[in-house]
Amino acid sequence: MTTAPFLTMTGISKRFPGVVALSGVSLEIRAGEVLSLVGENGAGKSTLMKILGGVHIPEEGELRIDGEVVVLAGIADAKARGIALIHQELMLAPNLDVAGNIFLGGEPTLPGGRLDRARMNREAAALLARLGLDIKPTTQLARLTTGQMQLVEIAKALALKARIIIMDEPTSSLTPVEAEKLFLIIKDLTAAGIAIAYISHRFEEILRITDRISVLRDGKRVGDLLTKDTNHDQLVSMMIGRDFTTRFPPRAGKPGETVLDVQDIVVPGAPAGVSFSARRGEILGFAGLVGSGRTELMKVLFGVDRPQGGALRFAGEAFVPLKPADAIERGIYLVPEDRKLHGLVLPMPISMNITLPDIANYRPKWWLQRRRELVVANEQLVKQGIKAPSVLHKVVNLSGGNQQKVVLGKWLAMRPKLLILDEPTRGIDIGAKAEIYRQIAALADQGLTILMVSSELEEVIGMSDRVAVFSQRRLSGILEKHELNEENIMHLMTGQARNTVKVTHA
Ligand SMILES: Nc1ncnc2c1ncn2[C@@H]1O[C@H](COP(=O)(O)OP(=O)(O)OP(=O)(O)O)[C@@H](O)[C@H]1O
Ligand SMILES: [Mg+2]
Repeated sequence: MTTAPFLTMTGISKRFPGVVALSGVSLEIRAGEVLSLVGENGAGKSTLMKILGGVHIPEEGELRIDGEVVVLAGIADAKARGIALIHQELMLAPNLDVAGNIFLGGEPTLPGGRLDRARMNREAAALLARLGLDIKPTTQLARLTTGQMQLVEIAKALALKARIIIMDEPTSSLTPVEAEKLFLIIKDLTAAGIAIAYISHRFEEILRITDRISVLRDGKRVGDLLTKDTNHDQLVSMMIGRDFTTRFPPRAGKPGETVLDVQDIVVPGAPAGVSFSARRGEILGFAGLVGSGRTELMKVLFGVDRPQGGALRFAGEAFVPLKPADAIERGIYLVPEDRKLHGLVLPMPISMNITLPDIANYRPKWWLQRRRELVVANEQLVKQGIKAPSVLHKVVNLSGGNQQKVVLGKWLAMRPKLLILDEPTRGIDIGAKAEIYRQIAALADQGLTILMVSSELEEVIGMSDRVAVFSQRRLSGILEKHELNEENIMHLMTGQARNTVKVTHA
């Protein structure tokens, strides 16, 4: 891109109580380019983009649009200037329909001020068509998939006539097919002169779809790269400040006796029963596409949903989990994929989030053992490398990846027997990932049984002793350690069991 930047941020600083989120960061964005922001969890990526979106006001720094200094008064002001921010956690209104969401706050009106419903639906339909989204403007938002919601957010940006669209980890909950669709849309948008600011922890996609990359570390800009001139290793070392390769930790222990025995369990709505077993000290991976039925099965094992048939045995005893408390009582824990919905009490401090599930243990008499709570929480803060000024920091104020680490810390503090991890490293930066892998492997070596749902093939292959592959809500096969490779998993994942794959049915 040779055009001059239409938007520049210069010397931006932002502090939160106890945290310098950004110090003196500069950034420029040109029309029609895809600029990526990369950095570890808590590096300041979302904060910088929230400043651009008018959510936060910086203490220092200058924003210029088309050469003119602009002071954003708030979100509405940023929108009016053509800046659309799509948050890390989507922020749509579930009780409105699609058109209502697209035009929220800027609804077309009839003379006299009444809502012009017809025009709204017409214009929404045109935007949906432009994005190739085959849904009606009157569809309730809650009925859409995450991928469709993501596109509704983009439609919303287009309705604003945005000149720049900020996407904060847009692909983290999309299926590979949905992600490809998003990339095509990004191409169309940039061809129309719209700039995209793209935050992601996935280097392959950054290297594929962006033009330039700005690297943030600890609230400072440490480098600017042309995507075509860089590579994975350079990006990583710039981001964490040293050379680094992800290696999966070696395993000491050998899996022992069968701990979990699942016989023909039927997940509500699934076409068939599922049978498998997991052993002491084993990491059993669950591969499959988003929506292939893995999370639903885990919810049944944890007592969130009731199975429609089949039998479960845990530690040699028949076990019917009717509610999560039944599972927890036996030492079975689930670290859910959606931390905001199920994992955390956002307005509470880190310490209370970590000790919450085990609260009874901190109340030996009638007072709460605050000191012990702080000790346990601090231990997890250090172990998980949670970036926060103290354990008294509220979870709502942590970066996305650090929230995920709190969820993990909360369950590990309970010393579980069976740990179910659903996408344990989603949104986690590459350095912290390696640390989480090391911990998971160490737990298995200590005799814990781990069921790990993961959509990252490299991770599921690198970490698991065996892998159960799901396709269209069926268990399509279980691969032994020596059979683990991308090809074998992909074939089962897409439902095409081949003869060359020796499938071990549990
Ligand atoms: N509203 C807030 N109040 C207090 N601290 C905050 C707030 N928002 C962000 N922070 C802190 O500012 C720092 C930068 O956070 P930010 O969310 O920008 O990181 P990030 O680079 O987006 O990380 P991630 O990859 O985990 O999403 C973190 O230390 C975070 O805890
Ligand atoms: Mg973020």
